[in-house]
Amino acid sequence: MQLGVLTVTTSRTAATDASGGVLAEAFDGVFERVERGVVDDDVEAIQAAMLSWIREWDPDCILTTGGTGLDARDVTPEAVRGLLDREAPGIATMLTVQSLAKTPMAALSRFVAGVKRQTLIICLPGSPKACRECAEMLHPVLRHAIDTIR
Ligand code: MTE
Repeated sequence: MQLGVLTVTTSRTAATDASGGVLAEAFDGVFERVERGVVDDDVEAIQAAMLSWIREWDPDCILTTGGTGLDARDVTPEAVRGLLDREAPGIATMLTVQSLAKTPMAALSRFVAGVKRQTLIICLPGSPKACRECAEMLHPVLRHAIDTIR
């Protein structure tokens, strides 16, 4: 299985991106191949990055980190929604409910999940802490979700 981790940020670079590393490490044993990328908070740039991965190496899953909040620059949910063939609201709800049990600040994160072709795409918040927590929440369901898509 193959995983793409896409960090959405205007302030971090590949060298300073801790959250992408947290996600890549959290799923290291689940996916044989993990690729990472960093892209600006820009709808077209986010969609182009995901589409090129899907065309070039067809990842089973893409996890994005960052840009889910309420700031005007946060556009990851819009970018992903614009790309999806189908939403998976149950995954987004699970992440919201379990995140709220960790911190009320989770109310500020707009979780989105769904399927583009045969790739499961899930938007996660930008902090390493949030990524660590969300990875733990996803572990029990990710494998089965991908099996149902492929
Ligand atoms: N979800 C979890 N599980 N744990 C967290 O610490 N932080 C929240 C929220 N979701 C958090 C979380 C905070 S403080 C913000 S501002 C939003 O995610 C949005 O983050 P983003 O804009 O970096 O995506």
